Amino acid sequence: MRKPIVAGNWKMNKTVEEALLLVEGIKRELAECREVDVVLCPPFTAIKAVSDAISGTHIDLGAQNMHWESSGAFTGEISPPMLRELFCHYVILGHSERRQHFHETDEVVNRKTHAALAANMRPIVCVGETLDQREADQTHAVVETQVRQSLAGLETRQLIETIVAYEPVWAIGTGRTATPEQAQEVHALIRSVLREMSDEAVSDSVRIQYGGSVKASNARELFGQPDIDGGLIGGASLDAASFAAIVKSGM
Ligand code: PGA
Repeated sequence: MRKPIVAGNWKMNKTVEEALLLVEGIKRELAECREVDVVLCPPFTAIKAVSDAISGTHIDLGAQNMHWESSGAFTGEISPPMLRELFCHYVILGHSERRQHFHETDEVVNRKTHAALAANMRPIVCVGETLDQREADQTHAVVETQVRQSLAGLETRQLIETIVAYEPVWAIGTGRTATPEQAQEVHALIRSVLREMSDEAVSDSVRIQYGGSVKASNARELFGQPDIDGGLIGGASLDAASFAAIVKSGM
């Protein structure tokens, strides 16, 4: 049985003060929730404060990006050991906003994925097609290529630690969610690609999140699909009550 995992991607939102207010609310709402893995991904500037605030709880911490090198002349970048030092156990990699605005390729995402796993962090590797690609019937080809290239060269034990997030680009921040059937179809495809890359036991244990306009009102139906193991939540993770309601939909 795969344990559902719901992660809040706060993107470029929340000062330290605002972050702490949000975390207090989330802690209150989710004090008893043990059935779902909960991960908060604040901006870098709030990671230390959020890390301290969730210490001793079952809520975990993730970053939204990182460099693949441990240190060096990479102005403006953050490395795996820097995040690990702050008890950051997850990292979102290859989010479509990084691919779109910062030109991240599958090759870059693959390097970062290897670096995360080498640092004992769990990568949340994002894949998903644009609206043009969906309308041109390229969804399967695009997603398959992203999965194969972003996860290339991982050993079995590393694949099992990896989380894949299927996020159709046209559904992110648009209010336009994939239907549960549309999402399930692509999740099943991702699982079959993972099976080809490894074996059935591995593909059965990798968790695949759905992301893109998930709200309290649609989460239960999405998370109820056989190959959807929770969600990566943007806008609705910025409010404690709505995030908590989404997490509870995974129970
Ligand atoms: P959204 O973002 O929930 O605001 O659509 C999801 C994401 O970008 O991870």
